[in-house]
Amino acid sequence: MKLDIEFVRKQFPALKSGFTFFDNAGGSQIAKPVVDRIQDYLLNTNVQLGASYEISQKSTQRVQDANVFGAELINARDASEIIYGSSTTLLLRNLSQSMVKTFEAGDEVIVTDCDHEANIGGWLQMQEKGIVIKFWKTNTETINLEIEDLKKLLTPKTKLVALTHASNILGTINPIKKITKIVHEAGAKICIDAVAYAPHRLIDVQELDVDFYVFSLYKVYGSHSAMLYGKKELLLELPGINHFFIGNEETAYKLQPGNVNYELCYGYIGYKDYLESIASKHFPDTQFSSFREKAVAANQLMVDHEEMLAKRLLDYLNTKSNVKIIGKKSFSKTERVPTISFVVEDRISSEIVEKVDPHNIGIRFGDFYARRLIETLDLEKVDGVIRVSMVHYNSLEEVKHLISIFETIF
Ligand SMILES: Cc1ncc(COP(=O)(O)O)c(C=O)c1O
Repeated sequence: MKLDIEFVRKQFPALKSGFTFFDNAGGSQIAKPVVDRIQDYLLNTNVQLGASYEISQKSTQRVQDANVFGAELINARDASEIIYGSSTTLLLRNLSQSMVKTFEAGDEVIVTDCDHEANIGGWLQMQEKGIVIKFWKTNTETINLEIEDLKKLLTPKTKLVALTHASNILGTINPIKKITKIVHEAGAKICIDAVAYAPHRLIDVQELDVDFYVFSLYKVYGSHSAMLYGKKELLLELPGINHFFIGNEETAYKLQPGNVNYELCYGYIGYKDYLESIASKHFPDTQFSSFREKAVAANQLMVDHEEMLAKRLLDYLNTKSNVKIIGKKSFSKTERVPTISFVVEDRISSEIVEKVDPHNIGIRFGDFYARRLIETLDLEKVDGVIRVSMVHYNSLEEVKHLISIFETIF
């Protein structure tokens, strides 16, 4: 069974324009059912939550439903473990602001040099309170975060390890379940940035056993907002950063000063509609017993399709003697997402991307806010990497077209 790419593309109205979107790790296109729900919210239930009148009751229910869906999507135990916010960066800042109050001077936090700065900067600020920050550095030969290096950094004082599920530059998937086990055995907690992973794989936070897990909805076919998961028992322990009268048991609201954007939270249930439509389109005779089963089936098709796209581009790049792929050179479902970065010998990355721009194809160069990784790899001087980031709605024709353009440039 193959993904019906025509069916998929029809769910993303922006794709009709003919422009090729290959900057999806920057932000994906939005699925139509998400837009429909945002519109429905704004046109029919756009009132303040929590009042006794009927429309307010309905809007309150709708925003609560968004939390229920969030929990279903990532297989959290409970809707109270889902915290929406305007961005991953902000959610992580809020989390660190709260968490630092539970740490003591001399406690240690481990961050990486290959994360987006969103999962580094907030933790670094803890230094002002005497928290010691240690860097888990990318091995420049393997271009991986090596687990042996992490083990050397863990001490009885380590309180938290913060790292990415997949690098937004390398596309490499880190073995989070294995790493989480090691971190827990050392008595620390783990916080995962899944922004570059979530557009490609269905998430199961219980299986991973992570403590905190965050991603941006605007990169997972939704609108400009984000979702943070935290284990309920840990959220209950965290001090709030909202108004003093917001109760500690309000696990989400106490970490959401200024509250959430109602229509965007509710709108994201449209992603559930989208995944369900893929399942029923491809498996009309299957009796699924839960949304999760449908999502698993839909995601499998997406992953297979992405694998085909990634292999085509990687195969091409591997034939070019002047191209250096920054990350794994071949595709494997467990080790890579189709975010593919490279540099071209003796060329500046910006110069190549600018030559692609006139062809109505959106690719990109730079450090993608993973500045420290680009510095570690000594790539600032070539304007960082050229990144082609694909998702399941991209077609093989688009990849072939891009390759034909590359052929004229390097
Ligand atoms: C891996 C990764 N983490 C975090 C972020 C920050 O996300 P947000 O824009 O929602 O703050 C990005 C954005 O590009 C990212 O790629």
